[in-house]
Amino acid sequence: MTDALLADTETRPVDPAATWWRQAAVYQIYPRSFADANGDGLGDIPGVLSRADYLAELGIDAVWLSPFYPSALADGGYDVADYRNIDPRLGTLSDFDAMVTALHERDIRVVVDIVPNHTSDLHEWFQEALRAGRGSAARERYIFREGAGADGELPPTDWVSAFGGPAWTRVDDGQWYLHSFAREQPDLNWAHPEVREDFLTTLRFWSDRGVDGFRIDVAHMLTKDLTEPLPSREELAQIPRDGNHPLLDRDDVHEVYAEWRSVFNEYDPPRTAVAEAWVETPERRAKYASAEGLGQAFNFDLLEADFDAAQFHRIIDENLEQARTTGSSTTWVLSNHDVTRHATRYGLPPLGGRPVKQGVEWVAAGGPAEQLDREGGLRRARAATLFMLALPGSAYLYQGEELGLHEVAEISPEERQDPAFFRGGEFDGLGRDGCRVPLPWTGEGASFGFGAGGAHLPQPEWFARYAVDAESADPASTLSLYREALRLRHRLQSGETLEWTDTGRADVLRFTRPNGWQAVANFGTEPFDLGDDAADAVLASSPLIGTSLPAETTVWIAPQI
Ligand code: NOJ
Repeated sequence: MTDALLADTETRPVDPAATWWRQAAVYQIYPRSFADANGDGLGDIPGVLSRADYLAELGIDAVWLSPFYPSALADGGYDVADYRNIDPRLGTLSDFDAMVTALHERDIRVVVDIVPNHTSDLHEWFQEALRAGRGSAARERYIFREGAGADGELPPTDWVSAFGGPAWTRVDDGQWYLHSFAREQPDLNWAHPEVREDFLTTLRFWSDRGVDGFRIDVAHMLTKDLTEPLPSREELAQIPRDGNHPLLDRDDVHEVYAEWRSVFNEYDPPRTAVAEAWVETPERRAKYASAEGLGQAFNFDLLEADFDAAQFHRIIDENLEQARTTGSSTTWVLSNHDVTRHATRYGLPPLGGRPVKQGVEWVAAGGPAEQLDREGGLRRARAATLFMLALPGSAYLYQGEELGLHEVAEISPEERQDPAFFRGGEFDGLGRDGCRVPLPWTGEGASFGFGAGGAHLPQPEWFARYAVDAESADPASTLSLYREALRLRHRLQSGETLEWTDTGRADVLRFTRPNGWQAVANFGTEPFDLGDDAADAVLASSPLIGTSLPAETTVWIAPQI
């Protein structure tokens, strides 16, 4: 194991430069929707650079940029045509270098997204595979098979893709290729040495440019056992996901990450990585977070939970326990580019264990306008965020949540872009466009200050209220809350443990960090009396009333400040 990963913050890290990620606040930028410097309606890298001061003032430790590579945008950039370049609509490699320099000057680390399960169908390898024909070496880099039926006219199996519809597409000469997502995203063959080698080159390419870490897209899907006969969809569903499932979370994927780890450790400080791994148990997730592998894995448990004390308590305990066993630190996520924003989720009837996916919950609740409690949702979101930011481990924030943005429902079918919306399937619902609408920077002006031109997804009128300029001027705004929380978090950050205190109420949670920093969250509808501790309150998600913590509110108590 590397010292960097083993360092225990309770005894103080050996080299803080190598352990920055353990309790970092990481801000996810969806580049096409963050800031548009050239007015073409698409956010870009110079746009990120132009907002470097905003990011510094927000107080985050790192940004994670969703894909900015050349892409036909069949899946919002997760269809990568060239892993070692910038989409010309988003800028150039020198723009990227300038952005990294500007962020580093402000002590902000840079994490980029690596999409290894599939390329774009426009990637030169896939184009070559199409041209080279069946049986060619070029087709070996992907997963091509003959079809079923008398003339191979049926897909090799009845598997469905994550976006709905068949997981196989037929090419002109009659062969079929596998795509776990959109048909424009052919799956790579990770048994192929050239595929493995090429990603090592990509990791070095970005590390050499000063990138500090990587977020690994569907890290649990790369390796596959496609020994014939292939199982049917129904058979597949019966196979336990214990490391030997043909498609998901296979043990042999960790051989890939062990190789990646040696690349990360070529650098000083070692590059970091976080796995997006949708696996079944904490034990399976721990493998991705191991020090010999990627080092950290996303924990999406809070993102899937309701605003509910018992659920939060259980999830926090489970994940801290898991972090203890892996030696990694835990990660907390309430929103990202794939799910309905948490202000909106908490304004809808509780999920009650239903999956949280791309607006399904709105549809299930009878439609956005009818069911959404905007104010209550935001109040609960602010409380949940403040509670999350006091937890040990790293916190991942998604652009726009610092403004308290709700999901945008007002997007017509013609304006939607997400393949998940058009193809249904596992992601059935409104799709993911509602959380990807370009940010409002100013209350007035073209595209609310996103750029000098339009916005590639429509921004609703109500964005004006949430614009950065309006919120910067308001000490009670969500932006002011995030800025103050992140500033205090830096000051108060402490060892990676917590101790619970029994509050005598099932709907009120309270914990203390090793240095005495406390968070108390009232998930209930009745106020909770803080007594003398109210005098040491340093920040609250809604104003305290005397010594009383109002319903659906979190407070931080820090006697040392
Ligand atoms: C997970 C990403 O977060 C999502 O946006 C994307 O559609 C799929 N992986 C496929 O790359």
